[in-house]
Amino acid sequence: MKKIALTGIKPTGTPHIGNYLGMIKPALELVDNYQALYFIADYHALTTVKDRKALNLLIYDIAAAWLALGLDPHKVFFFRQSEIPEIFEFTWILACFTSKGLLNRAHAYKAAVEVNTKAGKPPDADINAGLFNYPVLMAADILLYGSHVVPVGLDQKQHVEIAQDIAGAVNNTCGRVLTIPQPLIRETVMIIPGLDGRKMSKNYHNTIPIFADNKTMYKRVMKIVTDSKRPEEPKDPENCNVFAIYKNFAPAESIEARRKQYLQGGLAYRDIKLELFELLKTTFTQKREIYLNLKNNRVEIDHIFNQGSEKARDIAAPILARTKDKIGLR
Ligand code: TRP
Repeated sequence: MKKIALTGIKPTGTPHIGNYLGMIKPALELVDNYQALYFIADYHALTTVKDRKALNLLIYDIAAAWLALGLDPHKVFFFRQSEIPEIFEFTWILACFTSKGLLNRAHAYKAAVEVNTKAGKPPDADINAGLFNYPVLMAADILLYGSHVVPVGLDQKQHVEIAQDIAGAVNNTCGRVLTIPQPLIRETVMIIPGLDGRKMSKNYHNTIPIFADNKTMYKRVMKIVTDSKRPEEPKDPENCNVFAIYKNFAPAESIEARRKQYLQGGLAYRDIKLELFELLKTTFTQKREIYLNLKNNRVEIDHIFNQGSEKARDIAAPILARTKDKIGLR
């Protein structure tokens, strides 16, 4: 039996190349060596999105994106979290093994409290209990399928560690019933700079969306901030936002050739930007077509979800049953 790789995908809008390099691509690279379970975390999205139409747009958009970028539903069990009723039996059990203090210390909750405190509001103002319990639901996601590795971005590391703690607490009481998961974080591709040089993030409005049309893509690439060195001047490739993105898409020989040009002088930022634009076009144009067709084909996507969720539940059911049995539940 292959080991299990699992990750949850929060539906938060069309992905950008930072998402692609930091999360999507590394996750897709695991699928030959692991049994991958990748799901849309729609219950987690509910902590912030309450509008039916908006939620569904987001879900089918992100699902179409992953499928277009190469998720093979014959290999990956691809499903929606809300298709798995077992999750809630398990979440309750895990909550009873989770100290409240552990959740008080979770980054997302702490950040929300800090915003309130700074604004002079009561600490828990406008914070729903879903947000507070978010890490328990995520632990259930991870532990319910006996996941061995969890490919995530650095921002999710604490959540995986909370899942480890909770699994440890259950195992201490009940014997070794749950698998302790390991986060899988790609340090090298983690920091993809955005147009302004800060981390590429929707919050900073500095992204290059994967599926933008060529014109938008071109404009964004041209906007990447560089210093004002002239072509003939030597430059530092390790300190260049364009090169930092470029090196993730170009073939190894080109990267080396360009690196030399940076160091020796003779490279115009405009030229490497144009080359980057061409690389992005080659990488994503065909995938964009697939994405645009697929995202309006909800029947097709639902079909994939149904098949994925059935297989996921087959894995979940015995783990839930075993845990309940150990605890003395029916
Ligand atoms: N919290 C994750 C995020 O914000 C999404 C997520 C939900 C997840 N459940 C998970 C990630 C389980 C990994 C494993 O992106």
